[in-house]
Amino acid sequence: MYNIKEDIKEILLTEEQIRNKVKEIGAKVSEDYAGKDLILLGILKGSVPFMADLLKEIVIPCSMDFMDVSSYGNSTKSSGVVRILKDLDLEVEGKDILIVEDIIDSGITLEYLLKYLEGKKPKSIEIACMLTKPERRKVEIDVKYIGFKVKDYFLVGYGLDYAEKYRNLPFVGILKEEIYK
Ligand code: IMP
Ligand code: MG
Repeated sequence: MYNIKEDIKEILLTEEQIRNKVKEIGAKVSEDYAGKDLILLGILKGSVPFMADLLKEIVIPCSMDFMDVSSYGNSTKSSGVVRILKDLDLEVEGKDILIVEDIIDSGITLEYLLKYLEGKKPKSIEIACMLTKPERRKVEIDVKYIGFKVKDYFLVGYGLDYAEKYRNLPFVGILKEEIYK
């Protein structure tokens, strides 16, 4: 049997590190949003494992929704144009939205999403992301809950993909170079 773990050069964040961090974030969110009208908004598909784990650590009433977006343009020059592939199902006017994201790289996707969501007149919008690559940031994004700050490696696992694969790894790792070639 071919186990996808064989393709990983180095584990950057273990299952245990991730589990502990998600518990911490879940506890903070539960405190910060007590008495509010919380909607967790996952960005497909990378946020799915984080969303599933975080959801279970939140002890206050909350609902859940998903959006799917894709970035346009070539990779060397990001146009900042983002296309919505799946819109909100829930009515968010007057609600407290917490965007749940896998990783923030340039920040362009979230910048666009924040602008878009502001137009829906929620009471508040904040971001929870598992990973952030501060060195790569092209636009300033205010993130309320950050799991881990990471260097500029290409990462897979815990929702992150390479060519749509490796999302199912329970940890975050660096792919072996030969996989790209
Ligand atoms: P941004 O708009 O540049 O911030 O793009 C963020 C999105 O890029 C994330 O939601 C991921 O889908 C993807 N991404 C960024 N870095 C990585 C990585 O290291 N591995 C896999 N996907 C990544
Ligand atoms: Mg994503």
